Amino acid sequence: MKSDKCYILGIESSCDDTSAAVIRDGVLLSNVTASQAVHEAYGGVVPELASRAHQQNIVPVVDQALRQAGVDREELSAVAFTRGPGLMGSLLVGVSFAKGLAASLNIPMIEVNHLQGHILAHFVREEGDDHVAPQFPFLCLLVSGGNSQIVLVRAYNDMEIIGRTIDDAAGEAIDKCSKVMGLGYPGGPIIDRLARKGNAHAYEFARPQIAGYDYSFSGLKTSFLYSLRDWVAGDADFIEHHKEDLAASLEFTVVDILMKKLRKAAKDLKINQVAVAGGVSANTGLREAFLDHARRYGWKVFIPKFGYTTDNAAMIAMAGWFKYQDKDFCSMELPAYSRV
Ligand code: KG4
Repeated sequence: MKSDKCYILGIESSCDDTSAAVIRDGVLLSNVTASQAVHEAYGGVVPELASRAHQQNIVPVVDQALRQAGVDREELSAVAFTRGPGLMGSLLVGVSFAKGLAASLNIPMIEVNHLQGHILAHFVREEGDDHVAPQFPFLCLLVSGGNSQIVLVRAYNDMEIIGRTIDDAAGEAIDKCSKVMGLGYPGGPIIDRLARKGNAHAYEFARPQIAGYDYSFSGLKTSFLYSLRDWVAGDADFIEHHKEDLAASLEFTVVDILMKKLRKAAKDLKINQVAVAGGVSANTGLREAFLDHARRYGWKVFIPKFGYTTDNAAMIAMAGWFKYQDKDFCSMELPAYSRV
């Protein structure tokens, strides 16, 4: 039965996490995610396997999200779903499920851009928490396995990408360097763990020289690869003996590159509210750099809770809540999109 409250179900299936969340009037009631361990053996996400796992997970994940929230599906006011960008086969599972559910309940659908969802994760609020959300306008560094962007966020529905990577994303570069070191997948958390025990100034790697707010990480990746090849040629056990220093120096370089452009953008645009989002925002060195910038430059920084750094449906439901208030619904005919 419908109440006077607004319940939004969020669905996220753009890559290898199947996630569902319920938000009541902007307050998160549940956020359930099934991650897919199947990809670890392949050193990266296998799209076909991801789609199959989403098919298996979507019904139980949605069911659990509703149960944890204590909400019947008949009470839902709208279904918000990730429309793209992402892996087409993965997106199709979530998009089709959302359409089926919305049609059966005769409720509106709300499409959400996955990247905007990551940024709006900063507005996710749980019952009783003293969460402080950024105020518009703010800058957001969006760093993941597929993106490295500086986004000027003027409103929930007015975001401008003012800088982006011209080649690899930061997470992708870290993952690839970790792969050539023979570490597991995904490399980000492993590099993070090792880096805590290493010397960040042990090794120097190439830094990009490009204008404006854009990023580039392919030169760093190549420089890491070639340096490592030379060092291993002289000492077969080089990686084993120096992996902490290698990880710390790599992490330091990536963070330094990211923060330099962000500082420039904040200074040029005279914006001192700065957020970070996406999978790489879980990185300890990057989080410390944000806190350090808050102290040194007077920034007000917004760092997401760990649960909202990786893909999750809470951020999709939150974006849905913003759009719901503006009655920004979408049609049943909308297809998923893999690229922006
Ligand atoms: O946003 P995300 O979950 O999804 C994709 O873009 O697919 O980001 C995943 C990326 C991977 O490159 C992963 O290695 C990186 O985030 N990552 C990290 C850490 N945790 C995840 N990178 C550095 N340090 C971490 N602690």
